[in-house]
Amino acid sequence: MRVEKCVQGGAGFGRLADGSVCFVEGALPGEVVEIKVTEQKKDFARAGVVKILEPNVKRRVPPCEYYGKCGGCNAQYAEFELQIELLRQITLDLFSRTAKINLPQNFEIHCGSEWGYRCRAQVFFEMRGSNTVIPVEKCMVLSEKLNEKLKEISLTKKTNLFDNQSEKFLGKYIHADESVFFQSNLELLPKLIREASKAANEGELLLDIFCGVGLFSAFLQSKFERVIAIEQNPLCQKFAEKNLGKNCEFHAVSAEEWCGKNAELLSKACVLIDPPRAGITNQLCDILCKNKISKLLYISCNPATLARDTRKLLNAGYELIDVQGFAFYPQTFHLEMMAVFSL
Ligand SMILES: C[S@@+](CC[C@H](N)C(=O)[O-])C[C@H]1O[C@@H](n2cnc3c(N)ncnc32)[C@H](O)[C@@H]1O
Repeated sequence: MRVEKCVQGGAGFGRLADGSVCFVEGALPGEVVEIKVTEQKKDFARAGVVKILEPNVKRRVPPCEYYGKCGGCNAQYAEFELQIELLRQITLDLFSRTAKINLPQNFEIHCGSEWGYRCRAQVFFEMRGSNTVIPVEKCMVLSEKLNEKLKEISLTKKTNLFDNQSEKFLGKYIHADESVFFQSNLELLPKLIREASKAANEGELLLDIFCGVGLFSAFLQSKFERVIAIEQNPLCQKFAEKNLGKNCEFHAVSAEEWCGKNAELLSKACVLIDPPRAGITNQLCDILCKNKISKLLYISCNPATLARDTRKLLNAGYELIDVQGFAFYPQTFHLEMMAVFSL
């Protein structure tokens, strides 16, 4: 089979001799591969690579010794430059199919280091679906500090590793620990914060919805008279109180509940949302669509749900004025994005 392109999740897409669609794990665009069908569905098949007959010139031997055993980093067989090209092509495809819009072909994807970038990780002591334990001595995507911690942990329990940098970050120390959400790529995070800050501009009111420990508000608060930060995890509160200044309020409540009760504030504010991978619920989306927001920043760790929600916002009359990607998760097919909407 000749592979035409990669799709969301990274599988290669092509057509079998009878014209039917086949998704091949581990295959890259342009490659000719011998495959073994592993699953036959009504409309498509899934397959694995048996032999690569014509490789992509940017294919490489996965550099990590645990590749294929630990279950992570499934894009290692592509050179980093190709990983970025693939992320761009997958995202363009997603937006064209799901959001029904064409993003600029060369929309920006900001990149940092390909290795040693992660400041948080969960270590498992069993492989998913098996009882095999893989003794990992060093993980190539973890920061040096986390690799030091990895050496210290006991091989008996599940452990969260976290290093929110002991030193200041963009001039500030941000309080958080492993019990709450925190971004995992500290090298590229300042870029995202700067771009969000530029897009938000300044004004009377910033609503930081899905705020975690108040990361974005911590850097944008000086540009607004008042900041309201919404987060449903109550464990974030004690950190947010340290991270946020006097013009900020933190509410430990769901985005849906708070926005439902305070809809009149939405149209007066610059609104920043940063939901989990599932994107926003229909309930929240309806509220955002009904209350015309002059500037809406949507930060997303899942382009598929961002594309879905973009369509709904466009249907409600919003205009998409900027889209950028941030390669927060090298060696995977995940991409962080920021989309800016206005009316
Ligand atoms: C992707 S994180 C972003 C956190 C923060 N903006 C940051 O960058 O550190 C999403 C956050 O939304 C919170 N969350 C999930 N569902 C929520 C909801 N329905 N209402 C409010 N917060 C929610 C999670 O607890 C998590 O802290």
